[in-house]
Amino acid sequence: MKPALIVALDVPTIKEMEEVLGRLPDSIEWYKVGLELFCAGGPAILEPLKKRNKKIFLDLKLHDIPHTVANAVKTAASHGVSLMTVHAIGGRAMLEAAAEAARECSNPPKLVAVTTLTSLSQEDFTDLGITRSVSDQALALGELAISSGIDGLVTSAHEAGALRKKFPQALLVTPGIRMPGGDVADQKRVATPAFAVQQGATHLVVGRPILQAENPSAAAAAIFADIKNAS
Ligand code: C5P
Repeated sequence: MKPALIVALDVPTIKEMEEVLGRLPDSIEWYKVGLELFCAGGPAILEPLKKRNKKIFLDLKLHDIPHTVANAVKTAASHGVSLMTVHAIGGRAMLEAAAEAARECSNPPKLVAVTTLTSLSQEDFTDLGITRSVSDQALALGELAISSGIDGLVTSAHEAGALRKKFPQALLVTPGIRMPGGDVADQKRVATPAFAVQQGATHLVVGRPILQAENPSAAAAAIFADIKNAS
């Protein structure tokens, strides 16, 4: 599979989203809509993307009882979403229900699981009563998600290599992508597009390095070139 670039539409309003879309080249096929934008516009927010024939990654990180998550997957699929996130911590029944709901859709979305939020530390784990290390927890929840029928995992590029070995077929979605020397901002574990691809990433999520670039088209082109060199 050719690795895909997904531009994260981390903007608060529909107006700003339209502005971003107007500044980016047609070569970008994928966009990520997260909680902020979805709460601002609801499913109508997806229309400008559909009108432009874009693929949509709806990053709502679903975590609820199996019935609710399954119905949310079906509803999102009916809005033309291609990729969605669920929380692996929702457990096997929830993950299986989500995977089954996706399979039943006429245009089945792919599902990827978040194993452990990167914002959580070992101290948070203690508060939560989780005794595993952060990395052991991520691997265990990755195993749980994949064995429950989920298509892939969201991971830092630095863990992608180990996950690729363990799960040869899984989609691996990697945020935290920066060009060499790029502004890291609040990301702690960044990687270049080429490194992410070499580690087995199938989808690279990029926000600020494109959205905040003086020339977003040129920034996207440089990332495409780095992906291509490594593929
Ligand atoms: O601007 P930047 O490229 O850092 O944005 C990365 C995107 O990936 C954001 O939408 C962010 O919410 C998301 N993300 C992340 N780290 C994670 C999970 C998701 O940066 N661990």
